[in-house]
Amino acid sequence: SGLNVLAKAAGKLYFGSATDNPELNDTTYTSYLDNSNHFGQITPGNALKWDATEPEPNTFTFTEGDQVTDLVKSNGQILRAHNLVWHEQLPSWVTSNNYSASQLTEVIQNHISNLAGHYKGQPNTDFGFRQDAWDVVNEPFNDDGSFRSDVFYDTLGSSYISIALDAAREADPNAKLYINDYNIEYTGAKATAMQNLVKTLQSDSVPIDGIGMESHFIVGEVPTTLVENFQAFADLGVEFAITELDIRMTLPETADLLEQQKQDYYTVVSACLQVSACKGITVWDWTDKYSWIPSTFPGQGAATPFDDNYEEKPAFDGIVAALQGQ
Ligand code: G3I
Repeated sequence: SGLNVLAKAAGKLYFGSATDNPELNDTTYTSYLDNSNHFGQITPGNALKWDATEPEPNTFTFTEGDQVTDLVKSNGQILRAHNLVWHEQLPSWVTSNNYSASQLTEVIQNHISNLAGHYKGQPNTDFGFRQDAWDVVNEPFNDDGSFRSDVFYDTLGSSYISIALDAAREADPNAKLYINDYNIEYTGAKATAMQNLVKTLQSDSVPIDGIGMESHFIVGEVPTTLVENFQAFADLGVEFAITELDIRMTLPETADLLEQQKQDYYTVVSACLQVSACKGITVWDWTDKYSWIPSTFPGQGAATPFDDNYEEKPAFDGIVAALQGQ
């Protein structure tokens, strides 16, 4: 009952996981990650970000990215590439040079043509290495639905989004082009803003194929409007994916919290299964050992379906039950 095998049987493209380069030295970890019965798709958690790939202007380093994509290739998995334009993990030269609008446009276009160009053109088959999607723009909105103020928006207004999408389509014509964000999984101002952005891009003939729903949730607080909201995105004619799923709790773990977490994972996975435009599900790493949560939210953690010792948690059973339609 591998997670990816069950997801595909349920009509999805994959069940996958994020990973990060330091973890790849842990051979027990990689023995699970390499098992495409469980993980048919990988997202590099940091390796493709701007600071990792273009640390100095027009100097590109693909070493860490290639380490992950070599693994993806040898495992016959699918790559979700993350990300091209984001306000975090930006090298300081992007923000400190006070670029004009036309200069920053060139900086964005050059970054995308080199990075997306490097990873393009992989065989488009489930049996080989498939570069499925790029998160072209990451986290463009504030929670109230206004555009986030960052170097891109402050210099170019929302036009940086179409500049990035156009450049990505040119660099990697076969990749699905996504915008990825959090707190858009449920109905509300931020989801509405994203839907309005999709409509504007579509009416301006800007390429937009999908929306990434990060899905960093809290045990016992999984939103109740997932399916309704997912359907609203599907009705716009875009696909979407659950791109960074984890469900954190305040530590210590208790049997009750783990049982609630099982129910919560079931709810999220079932919501994806109920809407055909939901292409796949990615957990933001599969083991608590390498989750980003404890370092960012002190006192919280245990957010993934496998514990620190790689044992399946009740959450794992919740995912399996949902994928089996139980
Ligand atoms: O690379 C440096 C290393 O040189 C240094 O020694 C070390 C000391 O702290 O830091 C390393 O950088 C860290 C980087 O991960 C690579 O490991 C940063 O401090 C750390 O902040 C960074 O965290 C990443 C975070 O994005 C940054 O915002 C997480 O690993 C990564 O999982 C997380 O992923 C994001 C998605 O991209 C977007 N959605 C939210 C998600 C969770 O925050």
